[in-house]
Amino acid sequence: MAKGLVSVSEYATDAGGASALDDSRRRRYAEQLEEGYILLFEKAPFPLPDAAERAALAGVRQASAAYHKNISYRPGEDRVKGIARGGGDEELVRRALRAYSRNALQLLTDLFPGYAARWKLDFASFRPEEEKGRQLSMRARNDLIHVDSFPTRPTNGSRILRVFTNVNPSVSRWWITTDTFEVLAPRMAMDAGLAAAARARSGWRQGLASLGRRLGLAHEARSPYDRFMLGFHHYLKANTTFQSGCPKYRWEFPAGSTWIVLTDMVPHAVESGQFALEQTVIVPREALVRPDVAPITVLERLCGLPLTA
Ligand SMILES: [Fe+2]
Repeated sequence: MAKGLVSVSEYATDAGGASALDDSRRRRYAEQLEEGYILLFEKAPFPLPDAAERAALAGVRQASAAYHKNISYRPGEDRVKGIARGGGDEELVRRALRAYSRNALQLLTDLFPGYAARWKLDFASFRPEEEKGRQLSMRARNDLIHVDSFPTRPTNGSRILRVFTNVNPSVSRWWITTDTFEVLAPRMAMDAGLAAAARARSGWRQGLASLGRRLGLAHEARSPYDRFMLGFHHYLKANTTFQSGCPKYRWEFPAGSTWIVLTDMVPHAVESGQFALEQTVIVPREALVRPDVAPITVLERLCGLPLTA
């Protein structure tokens, strides 16, 4: 079953960004998130970009889509990538992304202090293109249902947690979701190559050790989990029977709304929408409150072998 939306109402913060949520409420939100629900704030619980930033975001032109699917922001380096040369006011776009990144991280920290103590900060992004009818290669398409896996940033079993905000002034963003990972995986993971990923594990460990010795780059190697998840992303997008026949649930994210979702577990497609901001963090298994339904646990149960380093 698709788990659907949980509406977070009556969420208010003080000047320091702290809310009055009690610990049991926070734990419940973490459980719902990890069970595959999308947490929705009908109104973003932080300031949206100001008028100047909004104009800069609306006017920005992206560099070639072959290299940049979105405009990205690296919080650690305060650096924006993906704007075409002369394609907008880079300083204002950076200001907007910097503020969004801070606000989104503050929200996540308030809601999920247990994650914040251990997460790895990932990138933020701005999505300037209208998603409906967008011309992208099959693996890059957002309108095909998929779970997220980053080709360049393996997680080794940690979770992909994302905050999205629809900064379009008037038009909703629409998503389609289907059954969550723990329902899909028992039906499809073997066909999608789980056994091969698990079998490759011992070879992978030897290869990793050897590569690490030679290059000192062991941390960048792709674990069997990451290899499977990237393959599963491609498998789902290419699977026309799944794309046309799976149960579909449609969700509306109104202008100005914010939603939080574990996109490695909630299969999703963007049906339409333009102008969204997003921040990602990577949450390790040890910080989860429902590790039993995490994709890494589901997959290891299915194949009977560990899939991480
Ligand atoms: Fe995605």
